[in-house]
Amino acid sequence: MTCPDQPHDQDPSGFSTPIGSRRKFFRWVTGAAAAVIGAGLAIPLIGYILSPAFKRREQSWVEIGAVADLAPGQPKQLDYLQAVQDGWLTTKLHKAVWAIKQADGQVIVFSPLCTHLGCGYSWDDPDRKFKCPCHGSVYDVTGKVIGGPAPRHLDVLPSKVENGKLFVMYKEFKAGLPTAVEL
Ligand code: FES
Repeated sequence: MTCPDQPHDQDPSGFSTPIGSRRKFFRWVTGAAAAVIGAGLAIPLIGYILSPAFKRREQSWVEIGAVADLAPGQPKQLDYLQAVQDGWLTTKLHKAVWAIKQADGQVIVFSPLCTHLGCGYSWDDPDRKFKCPCHGSVYDVTGKVIGGPAPRHLDVLPSKVENGKLFVMYKEFKAGLPTAVEL
């Protein structure tokens, strides 16, 4: 059945159809197929390009010094450079952590950030305490809070000793919480 007001195509079977409707249909199917194929190719490509930007920064072990250079019970600030992969960009960041060799030779490494609001603290040797200059938090040599607003003890970083060398895996934690939550 055709509309008498519309022009008609005559197909080989003898039926007539409105001019353009079949062409439009095929154009639509071709366009839809192209869109599906395009999306199929584009989505993995976009994911490949963007995925590094959304990945959590990879943590890695970094050698930060010789255990023999640490005196038992004496905190020492160890500075080092760490390569950080951020999306497609690799940058070298300066880090400084606090390491303390225990009497049994084990080493504890503290994050350099105060657990209150993340300021850098320092070791007061005569007083044998870690002190934060920002709001007065104080920690003892084991990292325990003994004064000020710090909500938790100093954060301990993963560390290991291999062939007399100290390695650390740097992490950051949310400040101001009673428990350590890694960023
Ligand atoms: S940031 Fe250290 S006491 Fe506030």
